[in-house]
Amino acid sequence: MELYIDTANLDEIKQAHDLGVLDGVTTNPSLVAKEGVDFHTRLEEICKIVSGPVSGEVVSTDAEGMLKEAEVLTKIADNIVIKLPTTVEGVKACKALSDHGVRTNLTLCFQPLQAMVVAKAGAFLVSPFLGRLDDIGADGVDLIHQIRTIYDNYGYQTKILAASIRGPKHMIDCAIAGADVATVPFKVIKQMLNHPLTDIGLKAFLEDWYKANPKPEAATV
Ligand code: E4P
Repeated sequence: MELYIDTANLDEIKQAHDLGVLDGVTTNPSLVAKEGVDFHTRLEEICKIVSGPVSGEVVSTDAEGMLKEAEVLTKIADNIVIKLPTTVEGVKACKALSDHGVRTNLTLCFQPLQAMVVAKAGAFLVSPFLGRLDDIGADGVDLIHQIRTIYDNYGYQTKILAASIRGPKHMIDCAIAGADVATVPFKVIKQMLNHPLTDIGLKAFLEDWYKANPKPEAATV
């Protein structure tokens, strides 16, 4: 499973990149606004750190405007992926960009038929939003299962990017459901490595080791 970080914060991106397991980055207008920086400059900075796909989202709501924005965004770096809303206009823009070899990420996907249509339009990624579905009492993970089945039934190549992930349980469920990629906040990347038994076990191993092999300073006391 590929792992992307879902942030526009450079420090978090650097820390995640330093782990050596980061495959890409997703941003959205809310995440960029939170940083209070220029959108294009920030995308350029991110692409200097991460060589995998970096999603930059358009804010136009008509296909023509989306395509104009995409033209500027694709000039930032070769690894920019154009993030488009899963709307009628977004699908038109997706098809036009895909036909020209530009990679797209169709975002705000909440039901399986949206995922089917964007795959037919040649989307590189589709982003089902798990957490936001769970927030309204629906089942986000179930959507990943449905999309996986549909894509496998017909051999659609669009990658399923599980998004709006709120914690480690979502990650486990998405991996079991066969999501190709998960994009997660930095907090969740850190949570993925946490287990109290690891900490307790490591502490005990080190205590036992240093009892038998006192550190030089301790030996002189
Ligand atoms: C994905 O590309 C989105 O940026 C993101 O996962 C949205 O998550 P949220 O529902 O936590 O805002």
